[in-house]
Amino acid sequence: MNLEPVSYAPIGVARSPHADAAGAPIQPSGARGQAGHIILRPELAEGLRDLEGFSHLIVIYHCHQSGPARLLVTPFLDEAAHGVFATRAPARPNAIGLSVVRLAGVRDNVIDILDVDLLDGTPILDVKPLVPAFDLPQGPVRVGWLATRASQADQARADERFSG
Ligand SMILES: C[S@@+](CC[C@H](N)C(=O)[O-])C[C@H]1O[C@@H](n2cnc3c(N)ncnc32)[C@H](O)[C@@H]1O
Repeated sequence: MNLEPVSYAPIGVARSPHADAAGAPIQPSGARGQAGHIILRPELAEGLRDLEGFSHLIVIYHCHQSGPARLLVTPFLDEAAHGVFATRAPARPNAIGLSVVRLAGVRDNVIDILDVDLLDGTPILDVKPLVPAFDLPQGPVRVGWLATRASQADQARADERFSG
């Protein structure tokens, strides 16, 4: 088992209307229509060729404003503590965030996106096209403790509980 640390350089940075965690939407479902951008390092722009044919992107990022990792967290959508890996809380051992956003356009090294729940200045680690045949599971999907809570994400707003 190779558990050596890994190190990535961000491919770019997010520009977002959300400066701070407090008041930010907690998922893209609560950020419908909110526009932002991913500014890629210019030398990576060629890697965006053919991206405009996709409607949605999976954005993987470093939650740079996240506080120390916790193994038990009380997430925004519950009053009870859950194991961090059973939540989407950013204060995790590797502070990696994942958002499925709508692609609005590609201009040189800039990706215009909608439904942005990332904070402004978020370092972007990767961008991949969402492909339903690859990414949407076949058959029933169970969502554990979120079964009665997930739909509340649209209205919920974050606070500073996971901030550094
Ligand atoms: C519950 S987390 C989920 C984020 C992501 N959609 C996910 O599932 O990994 C949502 C909160 O992450 C926080 N967040 C977004 N970008 C962040 C960043 N760069 N650093 C720290 N927290 C961030 C915002 O406060 C947002 O409300």
